[in-house]
Amino acid sequence: MSARKIIIDTDPGQDDAVAILLALASPELEVLGITAVAGNVPLALTQKNARIICELAGRPDMAVYAGCDAPLKRPLVTAEHVHGKTGLDGPDLPDPVMALADGHGVDFIIETLRTHDAGTVTLCPLGPLSNIATAFQKAPDIVNRVQEIVLMGGAYFAVGNITPTAEFNIYVDPEAADIVFKSGVNITVVPLDVTHKVLVTSARNDAFRAIGTPVGIAVAQMTDFFERFDKEKYGSLGAPLHDPCVTAYLIRPDLFGGRHINVEIETSSPLTLGMTVADWWGVTDRAPNATFLGDVDADGFFALLTDRLARL
Ligand code: RIB
Ligand code: CA
Repeated sequence: MSARKIIIDTDPGQDDAVAILLALASPELEVLGITAVAGNVPLALTQKNARIICELAGRPDMAVYAGCDAPLKRPLVTAEHVHGKTGLDGPDLPDPVMALADGHGVDFIIETLRTHDAGTVTLCPLGPLSNIATAFQKAPDIVNRVQEIVLMGGAYFAVGNITPTAEFNIYVDPEAADIVFKSGVNITVVPLDVTHKVLVTSARNDAFRAIGTPVGIAVAQMTDFFERFDKEKYGSLGAPLHDPCVTAYLIRPDLFGGRHINVEIETSSPLTLGMTVADWWGVTDRAPNATFLGDVDADGFFALLTDRLARL
């Protein structure tokens, strides 16, 4: 069976970094390119961090593009309080040697979807949806060519993390999320409801460190840093590994469960801006537009992740 073609759209971010490493370690996936977007930290850092991670994975050949440096209509909100000032605090990794790919990330998304057979490229947004929405606005012809969008974002039972009612990726660019969720593309949502069930406990982080390779040690150092915020805020046993759930879903969808429901985005209320209004209980007549995941086999997820990281 040929590898599934994907574009990773990302705002590294330690959890984005682990998601990228898992993808690059997995033969089931062919990463056609990586597009950076402003989110956890400004674009200048997310595009640099994406290249740092590719070199850590031994993939200096990977095409990494800079995409949008701001949301469609709002000032950028970043999350240095979670990810540190570099966005990749924890390990001491060298600055990238590999160059940034020429051209804008949005144009790479458009060109890739136009040149590959329709229905053969999956978009994997791990940050705000600014690049995806801009590509759809600039080139409406590509919308029907997307195989699937598998994104990390939103919440229902977990409600919110950056505000009481909104998850960070959606909150940063709600207008972009609204465009994507109304696009008609086949969407699978990996919300906080799932990612808060995959916590990097100390035993799980010890397993990363025990891999003993530069990748294993760096991932352990990333999660050591990344977890301090969530442990203090939630009193949880470890950091939720948000973005690697997207990659894991592509490789082992059987580890996850969810429902096909209607999901709409709040784009006007100051109180609930960026909320994913997920009709989990089917109480409206709004047409289903997304597979919204709700459950995960956490032990299975970490077994997959640890096995694959050891391959790099
Ligand atoms: O809310 C969690 C999401 O926001 C993750 O993708 C994290 O990397 C940040 O982008
Ligand atoms: Ca992210």
